[in-house]
Amino acid sequence: MPPPEPTASPAIEVYSLEDRRFPPPASFKADALVTGNELHEEAERDYQGFWARQAADLLTWRSEWHTICEWELPYAKWFVGGTLNAAENCLDRHLAEGRGDKIAFHWEGEPGDTRTITYAELHAEVCRFANVLKSLGVTKGDRVAIYLPMIPELPVAMLACARLGAPHSVVFGGFSSESLSDRINDADAKVLVTADGGWRRGTAVALKASADAALAATPGVEHVVVVRRTGEDVTMAEGRDQWYHDLMAEAPPDCPAEAMDAEDLLYLLYTSGTTAKPKGIMHTTGGYLTQVAFTHKFVFDLHAHTDVYWCAADIGWVTGHSYIVYGPLVNGATSVLYEGSPDHPGRDRWWDIVERYKVTILYTAPTAIRTFMKWGTAEPAAHDLSSLRVLGSVGEPINPEAWMWYREHIGGGQTPVVDTWWQTETGAIMISPLPGATTTKPGSATFPLPGITAEVVDETGRPVARGGGYLTLTQPWPSMLRGIYGDPQRYHDTYWSRFEGRYLAGDGARVDDEGYFWLLGRVDDVMNVSGHRVSTAEVESALVDHASVAESAVVGAKDDVTGQAIVAFVICKGDQEPTPELGQELRMHVGAKIGPTARPKTVIFTDDLPKTRSGKIMRRLLRDVAEGRDLGDTTTLADASVVEEIRRRAAEVPEED
Ligand code: WT7
Repeated sequence: MPPPEPTASPAIEVYSLEDRRFPPPASFKADALVTGNELHEEAERDYQGFWARQAADLLTWRSEWHTICEWELPYAKWFVGGTLNAAENCLDRHLAEGRGDKIAFHWEGEPGDTRTITYAELHAEVCRFANVLKSLGVTKGDRVAIYLPMIPELPVAMLACARLGAPHSVVFGGFSSESLSDRINDADAKVLVTADGGWRRGTAVALKASADAALAATPGVEHVVVVRRTGEDVTMAEGRDQWYHDLMAEAPPDCPAEAMDAEDLLYLLYTSGTTAKPKGIMHTTGGYLTQVAFTHKFVFDLHAHTDVYWCAADIGWVTGHSYIVYGPLVNGATSVLYEGSPDHPGRDRWWDIVERYKVTILYTAPTAIRTFMKWGTAEPAAHDLSSLRVLGSVGEPINPEAWMWYREHIGGGQTPVVDTWWQTETGAIMISPLPGATTTKPGSATFPLPGITAEVVDETGRPVARGGGYLTLTQPWPSMLRGIYGDPQRYHDTYWSRFEGRYLAGDGARVDDEGYFWLLGRVDDVMNVSGHRVSTAEVESALVDHASVAESAVVGAKDDVTGQAIVAFVICKGDQEPTPELGQELRMHVGAKIGPTARPKTVIFTDDLPKTRSGKIMRRLLRDVAEGRDLGDTTTLADASVVEEIRRRAAEVPEED
């Protein structure tokens, strides 16, 4: 089918149509928290009042706020004058309500060691570690850097900071020493909490050695606390470095929680832009906790007393902050926390975990789902996954085929799938179905949540009621970022300068005839071919739709004739030989599916794709390869050799026309 002629010049042209739809099953609705439009209607009447009701229902406050929201664009304050403590909301109040014996975390290390941690045990360890931090001179307002693997001490350290009112800055354990020192220095942290190492794919990954290299460049760090995890030899600097277990043995058990202002900084989390230095995203206490607790409860239809919830992200990313630590703990949920990789010792590790702990809610990323698709259906089929009742996705656009595979092979063709759109900056989920209420369409994040207003606008900032454009947010929301640490100008320029009065998410989106939102990827992932804007995600989705393709990444490379030409990097399914004939077939397939404008000029077969540690495809590198330029900075590559391999193959492939 040829693409429709564009009428005006829409910001992003959209060709593909998806007409499958899945209403919530009656059996799910029977027990769901929300089955109708009541929350949306309540929030439409008075969005601030709606959030105030959530704040009062979901959290325990030390003292009440006097103003729900003060909005002086681009700065919002929520629950002004109210005080509370995040650790107290995650722990103490569950104990006070007699739920101390409830399991907070089923922790599982990669080698197979396990720890079951109740709310009472977590509370005790957090209080003790807060006293350790105090003994090292940490007081309210001091920044503490945390560089740990996925072990229980990671949430313990975060909550201990929160208890004292010391903002934490968690740096993902997979980051290099240079990334760590940059972040420590930007936040001016005085204490670092790290470990000897962590387990990944059967190998002990040395963290302390990497921390040591970083510490050579961080004059502000006075103390380093080291958790023993792998038992590998490490160097301990006299007077600076101390073992976690030694300090904990000495620390007193009781530690009162500080009363924090709703707008006090809870944490910093660094997120990389495409080029410049990482931005320290600031999240505060009252509004953040309100929205993470609300979304965790209603997006996943949490029944805290019976559900076993597993967010398989790393705590080092915002997904882990909001949906492993703060959301689930505020809601008193029981979670699985897993240290390692999905293919150790076998490719069924996740399904083994789901079966053993009877996980009911699973939250993961499209990149993981597509990896499992590549590995085939035998592994999940060999396990009893019938406990699962809600599946979540986050991090990138999920192509309809992956969405369907997830529902079919992990969800037994039954479970609602919630595709949740949000960002480090938004702090919590913004656009998502409510699983008992929303009819879903594969690949669509559906609608803004109650209390959230999103609009798609064109190049000039005019709202687009139907069609493609730039995703913007038009009202403040409780968990929104409060700025970029130390750089108010950059905050203004990045998010608030392009369209007046609107937060610019940086993502392309489309609204269909029924008002559903379809996320199309970052705006800089939008290609321009002969004046037609085409989303990389859409071409990728068409490629993955072909029976021989496991995964693909598409970039726009400079082209003298068409401005940009579409170059597709393609990973074949296991048994499929990559041949020039297949390359041609794929080009035709995309052409037939989306239209000739979207047909890739070149298809490059590869065994792997360069990805960041969080699994995002590094299109910048692929663009460099496609344009034959020198490669840029590769330090955030999951596997640097991938790029070399891709470059080698790219050099071998003749351009097709
Ligand atoms: C960017 C934010 C949100 C936690 C993890 C990533 C992309 C995120 C979706 C989704 C399409 C998505 C966007 C966004 N993204 N979720 N459901 N559908 N795209 O946090 O690293 O701050 O990345 O991830 O491009 O802007 P992040």
